[in-house]
Amino acid sequence: MSGAAAEIGVIGGSGFYSFLDDVTEVTVETPYGDPSDSLFLGEIAGRRVAFLPRHGRKHGLPPHRINYRANLWALRSLGVRQVLGPCAVGGLRPEYGPGTLLVPDQLVDRTKSRAQTYYDGVQRADGQVPNVVHLTFADPYCPTGRQVALAAARGRGWEAVDGGTLCVIEGPRFSTRAESRWHAAQGWSVVGMTGHPEAVLARELELCYTSLTLVTDLDAGAESGEGVSHAEVLEVFGENIGRLREVLFDAVAALPAGRDCPCATALLGQEPGIELP
Ligand code: ADE
Repeated sequence: MSGAAAEIGVIGGSGFYSFLDDVTEVTVETPYGDPSDSLFLGEIAGRRVAFLPRHGRKHGLPPHRINYRANLWALRSLGVRQVLGPCAVGGLRPEYGPGTLLVPDQLVDRTKSRAQTYYDGVQRADGQVPNVVHLTFADPYCPTGRQVALAAARGRGWEAVDGGTLCVIEGPRFSTRAESRWHAAQGWSVVGMTGHPEAVLARELELCYTSLTLVTDLDAGAESGEGVSHAEVLEVFGENIGRLREVLFDAVAALPAGRDCPCATALLGQEPGIELP
């Protein structure tokens, strides 16, 4: 499937497997294999939206097995240019307890095994050979999308934290206490498992990408209990999904139709060597 079926993409994380009520389900093939699931097309305030459950609708994919390249490629091939990426995270500071919404402005990659570029010089199955491209990534998130997300949260009475560093670990296990204390000591704000390479792959496709992190737990180094459990993550996500959905709806409606942010021209002056969809 190709063409502008959607303009805005939402990638739902743990506990977030459906978004829109009235949807058309489409399957999308990509040169990188299959995305996590079908894409679900619908409309919010006249904006065409594609929703993709990051882990698959039955949570069959752990963070390190998600085909991030296929996911972002599939969204772009439907016409998507702006992506909202909600995800569950642990708080690394006591003040970022469960229920905190933080819109990060920085990212630290502590993953180990993930395909994190389209531009690896390796011939694809369709014969196209990407060039090697080194993108500027000092500011990993779309400045416009961040402001829109923050305003949408505020509009719903949710005082989201403006900025902070998302540390992305490989998972699927949670951090040890020592790792967690180390992450906190670096001054990083929250820890998750899926924010990388999603953000950088979006930038490589000139997509705007905004991360909305929902704190579901205090990470092992910030709490004195028994450590984080997946059940706790899902429970707190479930408690907050209603208002997160409202914030995302408002953000979708408020995203500008045109783009004047640097994300839109991230490949300017570069020779990607492959055709973007
Ligand atoms: N997702 C939700 N909570 C998390 C945590 N504490 N660490 C990593 N990923 C998470």
